[in-house]
Amino acid sequence: MSWTIGNVTTSDFSENIEQPAVSQESEPLPTRGDEQTVQPHERQPKKGELPAGRPEKTQFDDGLDYPRIGNLSFRRGTLTPNQEKIWEDNWDTYGKVLSDEVIDVEEWFGRKGPTIVEIGCGTGTSTVAMAPQEPDHNIIAVELYRPGLAKLLSATVRNEVSNIRMVRGDGVEVLQRMIEPESLAGVRLFFPDPWPKARHHKRRIVQSGTLRLISSRLKPGGIFHAATDHADYAEWIEELREVEPTLEPIAWPWPESPLLLDRPTTKFEARGLNLDHDIHEFIWRKKEA
Ligand SMILES: C[S@@+](CC[C@H](N)C(=O)[O-])C[C@H]1O[C@@H](n2cnc3c(N)ncnc32)[C@H](O)[C@@H]1O
Repeated sequence: MSWTIGNVTTSDFSENIEQPAVSQESEPLPTRGDEQTVQPHERQPKKGELPAGRPEKTQFDDGLDYPRIGNLSFRRGTLTPNQEKIWEDNWDTYGKVLSDEVIDVEEWFGRKGPTIVEIGCGTGTSTVAMAPQEPDHNIIAVELYRPGLAKLLSATVRNEVSNIRMVRGDGVEVLQRMIEPESLAGVRLFFPDPWPKARHHKRRIVQSGTLRLISSRLKPGGIFHAATDHADYAEWIEELREVEPTLEPIAWPWPESPLLLDRPTTKFEARGLNLDHDIHEFIWRKKEA
């Protein structure tokens, strides 16, 4: 396994399923969302900031498909002064930026406990609503977009939710580089960017390689729960339903689930429901060895 400086793109945080912002893969330098474009050598990253330059990308050599995305590019997003203060005061306690450090969950949460990773938590509406309902679980919310994490951080601090932590970075890289194999009770992926255009389908996060990676991070019996309101993405996921031999598809609904499956309706999801989109839920369980 090796790291390369690769072509990585993701949509910015838009809560907009129609047109996630796409950066130009040919751009020589990325524009970082909440900051202006800078040369990588100009300064050190600030607290909770992704490093400048093209993000490192794991070179997987297993013949499977992984999201192929270009430069990281974000819309400008500003924090309110209050969010800035909360960020400044609390990010070091609750947050980490993508790195090669394998997370010591016990140390970070101050306890052992089943751990769940939520990829692409957005503003954390689901995260902060679900975490108090599963107080014995440790929740690691992963998101690229700082204003989204700032909202989640503010809500976490304000509501004194003790079982949420956050990582800023690409969820695939976070799983690969920061999460110990066979350590998770669950992985959540709620309303991933659908990349509706055919030429962008390779950017969709659900791919055969991602499913293999998720499975490798789950304990036997661990659950992967994904939801989308995008019909074409749902078909795409359906086609990949059985591609990963270590994951067993489970029919929805699943009242006996060991993992909390009920989500609150997020602003994003409500928008889809207003457009009469059906919500498609997918569950897999990691098979026992
Ligand atoms: C459509 S929004 C859904 C947000 C939230 N899950 C919800 O249900 O409201 C998709 C989110 O995934 C984030 N995202 C996209 N690609 C990602 C990646 N590779 N790693 C982490 N987050 C990602 C985006 O920034 C965005 O916040």
